[in-house]
Amino acid sequence: MKKILYLSIAALILSLSACYYDTEEELYPNSFSGNTDTSNVTYSGTIAPMLATNCNNCHKAGGNSPNLTAYANVFANKAVVKSRAIDGNPSPMPTGSLMSLANRNKLAAWIAAGAPNN
Ligand code: HEC
Repeated sequence: MKKILYLSIAALILSLSACYYDTEEELYPNSFSGNTDTSNVTYSGTIAPMLATNCNNCHKAGGNSPNLTAYANVFANKAVVKSRAIDGNPSPMPTGSLMSLANRNKLAAWIAAGAPNN
């Protein structure tokens, strides 16, 4: 009897941890529309529009700090932007849930490249 209990617990843990690794691509292989290509990522063409759509409602002059509407501010805050918007640490940005995987990959690639003003 105990054995069955242990086995059920093990099965439960396994099924729960399996969910942890699910990704949008794996769950919806045919409908995943995110472009995870990180080549040709630029501040002006990729990052600024991404921040405008996902962050600047709140992070603007007179809004929540940091103001993420100008390159100099984004550059100065790139470490904390990375931890919030990519790692979700200590809490995710945008508030509640992270951006799409495609956006996070692009933002991560741009920061890893030194967050150039291109
Ligand atoms: C709905 C409003 C809202 C949106 C959208 C939003 N944020 Fe925030 N953000 C906040 C608030 C409120 C705080 C302060 C509370 C906190 O730290 O959780 C904050 C805090 C932060 C901080 C921490 C600043 C510090 O000094 O610790 C960073 C970095 C940040 N946001 C980046 C982003 C990025 C990048 C995006 C877009 C990908 C984003 N936020 C989208 C409201 C928002």
